[in-house]
Amino acid sequence: MTKILVIHGPNLNLLGTREVNVYGATTIQEINEALAKLAKSKGVALEIIQSDHEGDIVGLIGKSKGKYDAILINPAAYTHTSVAIRDAISAVDVPAVEVHISNIYAREDFRHTSLIAPVAKGQISGFGKASYLLGLEAAIGLIKK
Ligand code: DQA
Repeated sequence: MTKILVIHGPNLNLLGTREVNVYGATTIQEINEALAKLAKSKGVALEIIQSDHEGDIVGLIGKSKGKYDAILINPAAYTHTSVAIRDAISAVDVPAVEVHISNIYAREDFRHTSLIAPVAKGQISGFGKASYLLGLEAAIGLIKK
């Protein structure tokens, strides 16, 4: 069965109460439930994790080859800082889709640069919970190719 690793980066566990004016009121549980429902309808298995720790995320990506067919990742703040996550994605031959709840290009200048985007298959930014669902559809589409 096709298996996709979903990674939520730092502070995304706080969705629902965190900067609601930017990220909305949807919780990470609601996002995960919506992802699980979509995955089930497509016959895909998901493993979903949230971590505040860069090294944990790097380790998971590093071990993803042969275990997962694709990675769906919201690297959160690490999007803008993590050469290590970028290198991990680049090192494994597992296609990654980058997603963001907010439109990072409509926010502060430091959010306009994603270190992850050049090694991702593509990026979806600004659609709230739907960014994840569109990202999952995109990841599944990549695998079928
Ligand atoms: C985010 C955008 C990042 O700039 C920010 O650091 C986050 C969340 C988003 O989903 O909109 O934590 O990745």
